Amino acid sequence: MSISIKDLIKMLNRDLELEYSAAIQYINHAAVMKGAAYGDIIKEIKIHATEEIQHAMLLSDQIDFLGGTPSILVGNILTSGENIEMLRQDLDGEEDAIRRYKIRVEQAEELKEFALSQHLRTILAMEQEHAMDLQQALGD
Ligand SMILES: [Fe+2]
Ligand SMILES: [Fe+2]
Repeated sequence: MSISIKDLIKMLNRDLELEYSAAIQYINHAAVMKGAAYGDIIKEIKIHATEEIQHAMLLSDQIDFLGGTPSILVGNILTSGENIEMLRQDLDGEEDAIRRYKIRVEQAEELKEFALSQHLRTILAMEQEHAMDLQQALGD
């Protein structure tokens, strides 16, 4: 595995776009999810939304620091009329994020960008917590 800083910036920008879309998706899902049984997870996913925005800020700062231009594009957003389907969409997004950030940590370390790697590990740990919250709500 060998990567240039330019390639890494490109991938971090894709991660950034997916943080924006995750935040919007959570705001939408928290608003449209129905039923008293979903009260706890609705509270959780509102917190997730604010944490995805924190991730977007962190990534934007890191991309700028590395000499890149932070993207202002937003990734694909999914929604549904069904609570369970929305939670599945959110869990899929978190599992994708976990996969991407594991790779990104390795790439940052390969380039000896250890501060970036530390930030990415923090984000990765939070995505894992998000996935656990969703798994618990889904009874997985
Ligand atoms: Fe995130
Ligand atoms: Fe997340």
